[in-house]
Amino acid sequence: MEFKDVIYKRRSNRFLSDKPLKEEDLNYIFEIAQRAPVGMGKYEWIRLVLLEGEALKKVQQEFVNVVGKDVSYGGSALIYILHTGASDAIDNLDGGAIAEHICLAAAERDIGSVFLWSVTRTKDSEVINRILQKKDNEKVIAAVTLGYKSSEEVRDVSHKIEVLKVK
Ligand SMILES: Cc1cc2nc3c(=O)[nH]c(=O)nc-3n(C[C@H](O)[C@H](O)[C@H](O)COP(=O)(O)O)c2cc1C
Repeated sequence: MEFKDVIYKRRSNRFLSDKPLKEEDLNYIFEIAQRAPVGMGKYEWIRLVLLEGEALKKVQQEFVNVVGKDVSYGGSALIYILHTGASDAIDNLDGGAIAEHICLAAAERDIGSVFLWSVTRTKDSEVINRILQKKDNEKVIAAVTLGYKSSEEVRDVSHKIEVLKVK
């Protein structure tokens, strides 16, 4: 698939099935995630946690218990991005770069995805942190929910960022 086609194919799809993803596709997504740029090249400060099956169901139930809804929109895989870095700004930017790589790799494989900041709303949940095996010095930065699309519907948003060109 052409690069531009992947970019346009990536939309936040919030109608995700719980049918398990192929292991080969998940491996590909992690391979691409590893190629994201991160501040100072400190890849060792970051940990990705893949939740599937029963572990994912427990986390989705905890979203409902704490937030009032499943912020992961169903799906069959949820990748958490955890960071032990020293600066909130860089940690969040690293998370953004990694999450976008994950979403693009998923798009190339026709897998639906949504970049989720909302998982930070349950950052203090003991249930979720135990499942993530979160260490005391780690922060939850974001997550990406993944799943086969049960509908192609996406929100009607305007992809228009102001650009100033100066010579
Ligand atoms: C930093 C960031 C955080 C986001 N957090 C959420 C979220 O918590 N829940 C959600 O449904 N979408 C979330 N999104 C998805 C955006 O709403 C979506 O990318 C944007 O509206 C553009 O739509 P598109 O992804 O379909 O192109 C987030 C996106 C980014 C970049």
